[in-house]
Amino acid sequence: MILYVILTFVAILIGMAISVMAFGTGGKRKKIFQNIYFSVEEVNSIGVLYTKTGEYSAILKMENPVQKYSADIDSYYEFNHLFTALAQTLGDGYAIHKQDVFIRKKFHDESNDNHEFLSESYFNYFTGRTYTDCQSYLIITQENKKSNLFSFDSKKWRDFMVKIRKVKDQLKDSGVDAQFLDGNKARDYVDRYFSMNFTDKHLSMNNFKIDDESITMGDKRCKVYSLVDVDCINVPSLVRPFTSIEVNNVSMPVDMVSLLDSIPSAEVVVYNQMLFIPNQKKELSLLEKKKNRHASMPNPSNQIAVEDIKNVQDVIARENKQLVYTHFNLIVGVPIDTDIQRCTNHLENLFSKLGIHISKQSYNQLELFVNSFPGNCYSTNPEYDRFLTLSDAAACLMYKERIQHSEETPLKIYYTDRQGVPVAIDISGKEGKNKITDNSNFFCLGPSGSGKSFHMNSVVRQMWEQNTDVVMVDTGNSYEGLCEYVGGKYISYTEEHPITMNPFAIKREELNIEKIGFLKNLIMLIWKGTQGVVTKTEDRLIEQVIKEYFDEYFVNRRIENLSFNTFYEYSIVRIPQIIEENKLSGIDLAAYNYLLKDFYKGGSHEVTLNENLDTKLFDETFIVFEIDSIKDDPLLFPLVTLIIMDVFIQKMRIKKNRKVLVIEEAWL
Ligand SMILES: Nc1ncnc2c1ncn2[C@@H]1O[C@H](COP(=O)(O)OP(=O)(O)O)[C@@H](O)[C@H]1O
Ligand SMILES: [Mg+2]
Repeated sequence: MILYVILTFVAILIGMAISVMAFGTGGKRKKIFQNIYFSVEEVNSIGVLYTKTGEYSAILKMENPVQKYSADIDSYYEFNHLFTALAQTLGDGYAIHKQDVFIRKKFHDESNDNHEFLSESYFNYFTGRTYTDCQSYLIITQENKKSNLFSFDSKKWRDFMVKIRKVKDQLKDSGVDAQFLDGNKARDYVDRYFSMNFTDKHLSMNNFKIDDESITMGDKRCKVYSLVDVDCINVPSLVRPFTSIEVNNVSMPVDMVSLLDSIPSAEVVVYNQMLFIPNQKKELSLLEKKKNRHASMPNPSNQIAVEDIKNVQDVIARENKQLVYTHFNLIVGVPIDTDIQRCTNHLENLFSKLGIHISKQSYNQLELFVNSFPGNCYSTNPEYDRFLTLSDAAACLMYKERIQHSEETPLKIYYTDRQGVPVAIDISGKEGKNKITDNSNFFCLGPSGSGKSFHMNSVVRQMWEQNTDVVMVDTGNSYEGLCEYVGGKYISYTEEHPITMNPFAIKREELNIEKIGFLKNLIMLIWKGTQGVVTKTEDRLIEQVIKEYFDEYFVNRRIENLSFNTFYEYSIVRIPQIIEENKLSGIDLAAYNYLLKDFYKGGSHEVTLNENLDTKLFDETFIVFEIDSIKDDPLLFPLVTLIIMDVFIQKMRIKKNRKVLVIEEAWL
C-alpha cells in the first residue's frame, strides 16, 4: 500500500516536472494546454475533436477559391456569398473558424525528372528562392451550452454530422476543393499548430516560454495580434470583399489582407478568422433593447447609435442577413533573434490603410493563442474578444486567395509567378487534369521589344523537350540559335542558297488527298499566279496528271525518281494527250510549258523544287522556315507558304505525337 502511494506520488512528481519543463512554472499556465482537448477520434474517416468544455469540431482542408491576381472581382463576391450561405446552413450554435497558414518556403524542383541541359540550368537558377505558400483549413465547431456540460445529446451529435457534410457539399458545389482531415491528420494538425511548425517532417517541442510580449517555442518566437482593439472598437464603416492596388495605372482587386504573405522576417503566419452564429431572434431583441436605451437619452452620439442600429435592422429585415459574432487574430512567427517590432510596424501600417487598428494589447498572448487552437474557438471571451456584425461584412475580412500551383499535366511549360518561382502550366489547356478548352490556339501580343520572341523561344524549347514536333515560320532570325541548339532544320532563302525542296519526293503512305491537293495548288500557283482564275477543266486536268504521275512511279515503275523535273517532263507529254482524248479546248498549254519551265532544269529556279536537300521534313522534329528575304516575293512567298502548310498538315494527319505551328510576326 505504501509502495503504491509512493509510486503514485513519484508519478505525479515526474508529471509535474515534465510540464514545468515544457510550459514554465506559471501556476495557471501549465494546465492550459492539458485542458483543451478531451480526445480526438475518428468517425467515418472524419477526425472529430472533442474539447473538455464539450464542443465537437471537424477540420476541412480547403483550397481558397479566388485566384490571386486574377483581376476577377466577381470571384471575391462569390466567396462572400459562399461564406454567408455556409453560416446560414450551420445556423444557431455553430462556429466557423478559418485558419490560413502562410509558410515561407525555399523553391526546389519537385518533378524529379531528368532534365536536359537548359532545363537543368533553369531549375538550378531558381533553387533556393524563397516564397510564401498558403494552406487553408476550415474548422466547424458545435457550441456546447455551458449548462449541460457533461450530458451527451444524440440529437445534437447527429445534427453536427449532418451539418458538417452539408458544408462540405456546399463548398464542392461552388467548386471549392475541400477534404476532411481524418483522425491522424487532425491530431497532426493540432500538434503542428501548437509548435507553429507546418513544414518539417518531424515535430519536436521544446523550450516553450511565454512572456508579456510573445510566445517562444524552440527557435521560434510568435506574437499574436488581435485585429480589433477591445478598448476602442475602430473598424471601417464600409467594407468590400476586396481592395484595389494600382498596376500600371490600372486598378486591380486583391484580398483585403493580401499583404499577410509578405510580412518581413515572418517564417509562419496563421490568420484566424472566427464566425460565431448566435440565435438570431435573441440578438435582434437585444439590439432592439440597445436601440431603445440609446433613444431614451437623446444626445448627438446616442442619435447616431440609434441611426446605426436602425440601418442594421433594416438590412436584416429586407435582405435576410444574419448577425454573427466575429473574432480575427493573427499569429506571426519569426526566428528567435528577430526584432518582432518590425512586424508590428508593418502590420499596423497595413491595417491602418484598411481603417483597422490592430490591438496594442499584448498581455493576453497566451489566451489568444490557446483560444485559436482548432476547435477551441468558443473559449474566446464573448465580452472582450468577439464583436457583433453582419455575416457578409465579416466575410469581407476573410482571406480568400490561393496562389497558382503547378498543374497536374503531361505538358509542363514553366513560367514564374509573381513571387518569382517556377510554376508549370499546361498552355494547351486540354491535356491537364483540369481540361479548360479544346481549342489550343493562342497568340502572343505586345509592343516590340516586350519579349514575345524571347517568350516563344522558351515555350517552344520546353514543348520540343516534351516530345512535340515544332514547325516555325520565322522572320528576323529569332529562332536560329534555338534551332541550332536542338539540332533542328533551319531553312532560309538567300540568293546563294535558295530554299530547296522536293515536294514530289514522298513515301507511298504520304500520298493522300491533301498531298494531291497541295501539289495541284503548287502547280496552279506557278502557272496562274496568285490572282489567276482556274477553270474546272484545268483543275481536273492537273489532278489527273498528278495521280497518273505517281501511278507511273509507284505502280508501273516507269519513272525513275520523284522530282519536279520528272513531273514536268511527264506532264508536257501527257497533258496534250488528255486534251486530245477528251477534245478539251481553251487550255493555254503554251503558258503552262513556259511558266513551269522556270523551275525545270536550266530555269532560274531550277533547284527550288528539285533538290532533295530539305526533303526529309516529315521526320524532322524541329523545323524553322526563315522567310524574311522572300516575304515580298510574289511567287516564292506563296509557294513557300504552301510548302510550310503541307509539311504541317502531313504531320497533323500522320504523326501521333503533339504538334505545334508557330508563326512569328503573323501580322505581316
Ligand atoms: N524575360 C526576359 N528576361 C530577360 N530579358 C528579356 C526577357 N524578355 C525579353 N528580354 C530581352 O528583350 C529583348 C527583346 O525581346 P524580344 O523577344 O525580341 O521582343 P519582341 O519579340 O516582343 O519584339 C531580347 O533581346 C531580350 O534580351
Ligand atoms: Mg520578336
